[in-house]
Amino acid sequence: MDATRSLDPLHQRLEALRREIHFHNHRYHVLDAPLISDYEFDQLVVELRQIEADHPEWITPDSPTQRAGAIPLDRFVKVRHPAPILSLANAFDADGVRAWYERIRKLDDRVERAAFTVEPKIDGLTVVLHYRDGAFVQGATRGDGEIGEDITANLRTIRALPLRVPVAGKQVSSTQVDSAKESMSTSLPVSLIPHYLVVRGEAFITIKDFDALNQRLEKAGEKTYLNPRNTAAGSLRQLDPALTASRPLTLLVYQIVAWESAPSPEGPSPSGIGDRGQGERPTTQTDTLETLRALGFPVPQFTACPDIESAIAACQKLTEQRDQSPFEMDGAVIKLDDHILAADLGFVGKDPRGAIAFKFPAREVTTRLNEIRVNVGRTGVLTPYAVLEPVEIGGVIVERATLHNFDYIAEKDIRPGDRVAVKRAGDVIPYVIGPVVDARTGTEWPYTPPETCPACDQPVEHLAEEVAWYCVNAACPAQLIRNVEHFVSRGAMDIVGLGIKIVEQLIGAGLVHDVADLYTLTKEQLLELEGFAGKKADNLLAAVAASKERPLSRLIGALGIRGVGEVMAGDLARYYPSLDELARAALDELQMIEGVGPNIAQAIVDWFARPANHALLEKLRSVGVWPRAEIKPAGAATPMALAGQTFVITGTLPTLSRENAKFLIESHGGKVTDSISKKTNYLVLGENPGSKLDKARELGVPILNEEGLKKVISN
Ligand code: IVH
Repeated sequence: MDATRSLDPLHQRLEALRREIHFHNHRYHVLDAPLISDYEFDQLVVELRQIEADHPEWITPDSPTQRAGAIPLDRFVKVRHPAPILSLANAFDADGVRAWYERIRKLDDRVERAAFTVEPKIDGLTVVLHYRDGAFVQGATRGDGEIGEDITANLRTIRALPLRVPVAGKQVSSTQVDSAKESMSTSLPVSLIPHYLVVRGEAFITIKDFDALNQRLEKAGEKTYLNPRNTAAGSLRQLDPALTASRPLTLLVYQIVAWESAPSPEGPSPSGIGDRGQGERPTTQTDTLETLRALGFPVPQFTACPDIESAIAACQKLTEQRDQSPFEMDGAVIKLDDHILAADLGFVGKDPRGAIAFKFPAREVTTRLNEIRVNVGRTGVLTPYAVLEPVEIGGVIVERATLHNFDYIAEKDIRPGDRVAVKRAGDVIPYVIGPVVDARTGTEWPYTPPETCPACDQPVEHLAEEVAWYCVNAACPAQLIRNVEHFVSRGAMDIVGLGIKIVEQLIGAGLVHDVADLYTLTKEQLLELEGFAGKKADNLLAAVAASKERPLSRLIGALGIRGVGEVMAGDLARYYPSLDELARAALDELQMIEGVGPNIAQAIVDWFARPANHALLEKLRSVGVWPRAEIKPAGAATPMALAGQTFVITGTLPTLSRENAKFLIESHGGKVTDSISKKTNYLVLGENPGSKLDKARELGVPILNEEGLKKVISN
């Protein structure tokens, strides 16, 4: 029977609004498939709030308006869990899993034929949620597994947490808006809902939300958080739910802790939840997750595995997908699908025998920051790095980690001597996340950046608008080493056999003062150096000579202009046939090239304006390192954008000189002629055009401005 039928129409409207809001909330926060706009959603909430304001006696704790707004607590009240909230034993590799399997197989024959599920192990916080007749009534932390703390008000603020289950309209697809609304407005039979239900899940913050939160805090000049897990934990243990509400917590539920069916006088009725009869507690993990999902809980994705080897394979797949996961996973959990078998196997301490955590290698550890040192890069930029108490992260011993820049150290207040969190994930260079402030002993002092270059002792400079500090001494030995190292590297001039040791040796011996000096080295000079037997000297000289043949793009990249990497060097070489033309390029002209912003354009202009660099270029020219780009661009293998097309240019173009416009067209396979004819494909039109414009109009030749020309090229 529908309980709302006997209510007055306004109360009925209120109930309908609540159902509708719960429904759309679930679509948005659990299914990630909203059916209405935020505006429409807000309208529903406004209407509900109005009715509740007029009738405060109708407010119930499971009303969607009650997510936030509870008053701050003085302390948390203890809650006894209805059943122990157990932990998990760990395995660290496939063999660890097999050993666990062998142990339980010996205990029970049924294990041999058992199936498993594999779920992500979410790196968050266990929460225990109580529902009475479908309404969320209490939520607790894990505590010691027997007794937790009551954090109901905080949990209510999590939008993914259903305040009432089942969430109506749960089985519809997003295309079925109308039928969804229909099913939403019919309240489900009360008998479907276990009279008392306790579930367990993990509250956490997604990586994206965590990054956004930290960015917001940073902008506001507030302290940032170390990692999503600590943030989630801290947010849930706030005495003021308003603070929790401001944190982007979410939830996944994976276990039923208690299930008491409503005593039903009519006996079992068709449930629509899973494929069991109504009121029964699921007896497999697959069924548990499906039931929880059907009730409206957010559940983790899982893999059903027929045997232990496929479970191991599923764990390995999850390991590989770790970087793509929206939330931090610290492992996978393998569970016996059969809960009855799992229960029969019993426990070892607090760990059930029927499940095991396949732990991923840690990516984040804490260790002592012994020292902050400063590296001088090839552009003179000073980069601080951490010298750490050696620590293993994911199978690798880490002794150094980046600290990004001096502002980062100041923002995070990272101090030498601090215990620091260090992360090494995927391809990322290990970096210091921040200090563990609670571990301070009082002897750690804030760090001050050096005022002079650690390599040459000259004063350092801060460029306006830039975070970095620079050593601007052109003769700084550290910069020279980095410069030469970059010049000879694989992606630049690719001088095989010229490693960092030899670079240091050559500079140390006074044989190399700039990169051009590499090309005047003699065999006699090399033979004087330690470790240079005859063959090694010959090989090096041959490699140096061979590098003269590198294309222009390599040389441009090798110069080490700030912001000009391999790809951009390639682009520049397509527009400028040699370093002479690039040296003459104007700021606005450079900016017309895709990917060249004002900063890079400025860096290029500045580089060529420096007298020391003029001298270097002349030296390179004189030693024969002076490639010219072929007129056909690097990508000539693919048909060129303007192949076979004829252009005429008239008037002054806004940014391109006539010469450069011509080069641009020709380098994309086009032809530039002086007079318009029927064969002309386009007229490129600038300011103050000549008679060519009239002629083009007469002949119906399409007209392009500079912008249009670039579009034709990029198409
Ligand atoms: S099952 C008896 N499943 O990992 C059931 N735990 O190291 C034991 N966790 O305290 C837990 N994701 O907080 C289970 N999919 C998942 C999990 C998961 C994260 C946490 C949980 C537990 C800890 C054990």
